[in-house]
Amino acid sequence: MWSKVARAPAVALLLAAGATAGFTYSRSDPPVLPVVEAAEKRRKPSSPAQSSLAGTWVNELGSKMVLNPPDDSGQFTGSYLTAVSAAQKPIRVSPLVGAQHDPKGAEEEYTFGFLVNWSFSDSIAAFAGQRFVDAEGKETLETTWLLRQKVESHGDDWEATRVGRNVFTRAA
Ligand SMILES: *[C@@H]1O[C@H](CO)[C@@H](O)[C@H](O)[C@H]1NC(C)=O
Repeated sequence: MWSKVARAPAVALLLAAGATAGFTYSRSDPPVLPVVEAAEKRRKPSSPAQSSLAGTWVNELGSKMVLNPPDDSGQFTGSYLTAVSAAQKPIRVSPLVGAQHDPKGAEEEYTFGFLVNWSFSDSIAAFAGQRFVDAEGKETLETTWLLRQKVESHGDDWEATRVGRNVFTRAA
């Protein structure tokens, strides 16, 4: 992204280049900014709703999650219905909370993370991932997770954590 700090020297450079080429720009008529702003507009996806993670996603196992639109800071809530479980109890929809690193979705391929607080077992999963968008506009969420399961004693701590990867695509 262009910061104000990076922009100022660019303007100064162009002003200098313009001067040596025999034409001048006045400060009130900056030549660089309209070009930069046009480029920033082109980069933004046309539909702001689709640039957030809001919507329904499924992974390669058939697990499904529904993410609500993020707030202004990029925090979001949602629900997760796993297709697989090591717990001996019936699977139920579980709540999740997360953050997308780019609150407004100005960049397409931002990082995000969320926690799933399993409602049917004494465990928590932490997902970290990145959103990718291909040339056709197809979105893919590449995620890695850690699943912490409650164990009965400190001595069993060694077997309490699993790690895995899931790839989500948009279902709706
Ligand atoms: C986490 O899950 C437990 C068990 O279902 C529930 O009692 C608790 O309220 C949940 N907390 C959050 C923040 O989701």
